[in-house]
Amino acid sequence: MILTDEQRRMLAGDFGRSVKKSMEILTALGKIYDAERLVPVSSVQIAGVSYDNLGEAGLGWLAEMAAGGGRARVYATLNPAGMDIDNWQAMGIPPEFASQQQRVIASFGQMGVVTTCTCTPYLAGNVPHFGEHIAWAESSAVCFANSVLGARSNREGGPSALASALTGFTPEYGLHLDKNRQPGVLVDLTCKIEGTASFGALGKWIGEQIEKMPGKPIPLLRGIERASLEELKSFCASVATYGGLGLFHIEGITPEAGLVALPDLHLHVDQQVLQSAWDSMVDEGGEEVDFVSLGCPHLSLPELAHLADLLAGKKVRKAFWITTARPTKQMADRMGYTRVIEESGAVIAADTCCVVAPIRGRFKVMATDSAKACYYAYAKNKFKTRFFEFDQVVAEALR
Ligand code: F3S
Repeated sequence: MILTDEQRRMLAGDFGRSVKKSMEILTALGKIYDAERLVPVSSVQIAGVSYDNLGEAGLGWLAEMAAGGGRARVYATLNPAGMDIDNWQAMGIPPEFASQQQRVIASFGQMGVVTTCTCTPYLAGNVPHFGEHIAWAESSAVCFANSVLGARSNREGGPSALASALTGFTPEYGLHLDKNRQPGVLVDLTCKIEGTASFGALGKWIGEQIEKMPGKPIPLLRGIERASLEELKSFCASVATYGGLGLFHIEGITPEAGLVALPDLHLHVDQQVLQSAWDSMVDEGGEEVDFVSLGCPHLSLPELAHLADLLAGKKVRKAFWITTARPTKQMADRMGYTRVIEESGAVIAADTCCVVAPIRGRFKVMATDSAKACYYAYAKNKFKTRFFEFDQVVAEALR
């Protein structure tokens, strides 16, 4: 790999222990993936924030990086933590967990990382523009940044994203290169698609097909007339979860779709295909839903406004968690949405999500509009799942 003078000095330790360690991580990654050089990044998003995933070993590593003089050189934010940082008691989080989670956040803060914990950094001020190189880690956010914003990121691990924050660089390979952003399969939709859950079901089906195809081709979708930001974030989360995809194109909607060649390989999606993907996330057992979750990925302000309309003057009858970014919640507080939602008995948790919070064993059957949440609810927490569109999820909480 060709390194600049500054990068060589970082590797030699001239900028301190943490920067040296970071440069070792980035150059090792670059060698593995045959990168020719490191490119500057304008934005970083770091995963591996929940103490539930990090444990003592992860916390120890972060504390060491902070003690080694690490300081973010670019705008860097965090993925969700294992609890609402300010209001963890309302989520029933044990105090011992809360104390270790606070130490994780403090270590990141010490390194100058902005401690906004969200998988929708693009709704909370961390918004790269077209063509910018970035180093993001959360899979749904990476997919959104590449596909919808046209920025360029591989899916980073927690350590490599932190290393990019502390050095300002990332190895140039994978989705940073034009040649790897070309579609390899055309997906034609012949049915109407609308709603976050429907887009999630579509992402599940496409992801699963691509997972089985050699070389995991990037899809170019045709036949979608419109897609809201919320539908796109749901699709990104799903296609990244079920297919490991970091990039897709949608004709007429995403910025690079008009710049690429049409692939020969075809897939078709009709109503029946969509329904089968949907049905695969619905547990048919007779057990009652005891947990309702919205906010995977984190809810936008318009979603919170709509939720407040649906819940106004009503009482929920089940545990109902709504997860969002702290800055989004602060706007919801100001607009009065939070008060209306909380008066219904629902809990708004900022900074966290129902997948990274330590809730295994607390619930049995979860209702959601998120295909990604269905995957992890089962895989991580062993919950059964019921899959609905947004308004029906709310109706389930009120039932
Ligand atoms: Fe975000 Fe957690 Fe879902 S990180 S995408 S809310 S699993």
